[in-house]
Amino acid sequence: MRVNSNEFRSKRHLLCKRKLCNAEFGDNIGKNNLREDSMTDYSLLSEQIRSLSEDEPNFIPVFSNASALLYENMEDLNWAGFYIMNKGSLMLGPFQGKVACIRIEVGRGVCGTAVKEGKTQLVRDVHEFPGHIACDSASNSEIVVPIHRDGEVVAVLDIDSPSLSRFSEEDRAGLEEFVRVLEEVTDLSGVR
Ligand code: SME
Repeated sequence: MRVNSNEFRSKRHLLCKRKLCNAEFGDNIGKNNLREDSMTDYSLLSEQIRSLSEDEPNFIPVFSNASALLYENMEDLNWAGFYIMNKGSLMLGPFQGKVACIRIEVGRGVCGTAVKEGKTQLVRDVHEFPGHIACDSASNSEIVVPIHRDGEVVAVLDIDSPSLSRFSEEDRAGLEEFVRVLEEVTDLSGVR
């Protein structure tokens, strides 16, 4: 396919303006999304994932870039990624971090509980969560946000930290906002 260089330049300019271009285009992406008070800038991350989904809404590239964005831009994480509903249980999806368990039954662990209850699980100490599944023994706190399509949970966003009480109510609100954008921009029609 012939690339229109003017179109390419203007797209690059737009992405750089939204802090989305890579090193070749000015090194604007990366650990630049902390606000002055050191809190993750979830509004900027939400805008970035919206831009990244513009050309291809399929959940595999969108969730892959979403896990990279979160892992790069949130402090003090050891895992960030997705589990997708498949044949009645959660199956490992795109992620950043150490290798993880492949299947999680609905109702099991923090992820399975988020599916069963249909609501965010904010776990300040995973060792006190009944049935927590320790994919990475470094994890001490975790947040799992369900992702819906037509009112049904079809996936979860799972983020782990080696620190106790890493995630606050502000993180919950920011990540729920990020997931609302994912629900809006991602084609999840083939899932579940
Ligand atoms: N801890 C999760 C399992 C997934 S890993 O953290 C990547 C759970 O209890 O569901």
